[in-house]
Amino acid sequence: MGEFVVRGRRRLKGTVRVNGAKNAALPIMAATVLATRPVILHDVPDLRDIRVMSQVLRSLGAEVERHGTDVFVDPRTIHNYVVPAELMQEMRASIFLLGPLLARLGSAEATQPGGCAIGQRPIDWHLYALKQLGARICDEEGRTLLRTDGLVGNDVHFPFPSVGATENVMMAAALAQGETRVRNAAMEPEIVDLAQFLEKLGATIRGAGTPDIRITGCQKLGATEHTVIGDRIEAATFVLAVAGAGGDVVVENCMVDHLPGLWSRLEGIGVQVEEIDAETVHIVSSGVFEPYPISISTAPYPGFATDLQPQFMSFLLQVPGVHLITERVFENRLGHAAELRRFGAQIVADQRVALIYGGHPLYGTVVSARDLRAGAALVNAALMAQGESVIRGREIIERGYEQLDQRLRSLGAEIRAR
Ligand code: EPZ
Repeated sequence: MGEFVVRGRRRLKGTVRVNGAKNAALPIMAATVLATRPVILHDVPDLRDIRVMSQVLRSLGAEVERHGTDVFVDPRTIHNYVVPAELMQEMRASIFLLGPLLARLGSAEATQPGGCAIGQRPIDWHLYALKQLGARICDEEGRTLLRTDGLVGNDVHFPFPSVGATENVMMAAALAQGETRVRNAAMEPEIVDLAQFLEKLGATIRGAGTPDIRITGCQKLGATEHTVIGDRIEAATFVLAVAGAGGDVVVENCMVDHLPGLWSRLEGIGVQVEEIDAETVHIVSSGVFEPYPISISTAPYPGFATDLQPQFMSFLLQVPGVHLITERVFENRLGHAAELRRFGAQIVADQRVALIYGGHPLYGTVVSARDLRAGAALVNAALMAQGESVIRGREIIERGYEQLDQRLRSLGAEIRAR
């Protein structure tokens, strides 16, 4: 496993551009299965998960090529409905293929994606939704087989606004007969981006971004070009790095509206946040703060993003006071607290709740990334710590952050990959 080596307490300065969102590009790439002609996607980050999704599409018969930040997908030769087990194991987002394959080929087959560091991550709501549209589902030796003689629109009511399950059913419903109504749907910006892509293909979708989405299926979808939205989680990761380490940085391609609950908390403790335009924000921070208790609970959008929780915990180490974090989306997403304690942080945590005693000095140490957002939190902590730190599991972090070391170095950080 590779490592990042960081020497902390360097003020960050300059401009950084945020890449296209991994969590928008993955479902949109899956949705290309529904197209009948070649599709061009712009601003697709060059990440391992994106490369795995490309491999999955090729295994189904599609042609996939990358040219710079553009990805070309020709879905016309797709003929296989079985998602390779080894690729499903490598990336759970391969589950996004179930809906589109079922809609296009009448069949889909995949192994159950394993859990991961942050939780069990079952797919029962994905399967419930596809069954509502007429899928016949059976499990054989750990593989899930879905069949249909033709999907028919229906009501789907989720017990929880699952991002992936909402995306899967939207894609399946796009080729179902009649209307599908999805209630308690996820409202993340990535859902809206997927809906915009499907509409460009010719689908009729109303209410994306609200809890109540209606999709009117059609016989055939066409082709399109689409630019993936900026990655709000990557943007906020950079913003929190600057806020914690101190600096003066402009973050571009950062959809300011996609980060409710972040800006007011930062401004409340003295970080200067200047919205230059809807997609550009200027952050100025001394990295030193007056005592001020902060409490956050993660929740589905527009609540505080669970994918930002580790990076925010790391930032709170710089803020004197007692802070409370409650993780309400995943059942095991506070494991990074133990790694942050190795920097000298004072944190008490169980599965769902963490108390952070901020303002204590942080010292360089050796830590390991357990998942990509926890890894980013460790890099940010190392930027704030005195001395040298080594963050193991570089490849895990690079699943979500392209050229992280180069971009942080361009802002004056002392960081290198080895
Ligand atoms: C998406 O995962 C993101 N991944 C995650 O980002 C993100 O943390 C999550 O949404 C929540 O925002 C991608 O988009 C590729 P969920 P997803 O279905 O769709 C439970 C990152 O770091 N659940 O909204 O899997 C589930 O276990 C990743 O980029 C069921 O019980 O998330 C979890 O507790 C990490 N049954 C909760 O719902 C189901 O069928 C939310 O999961 C589905 C989910």
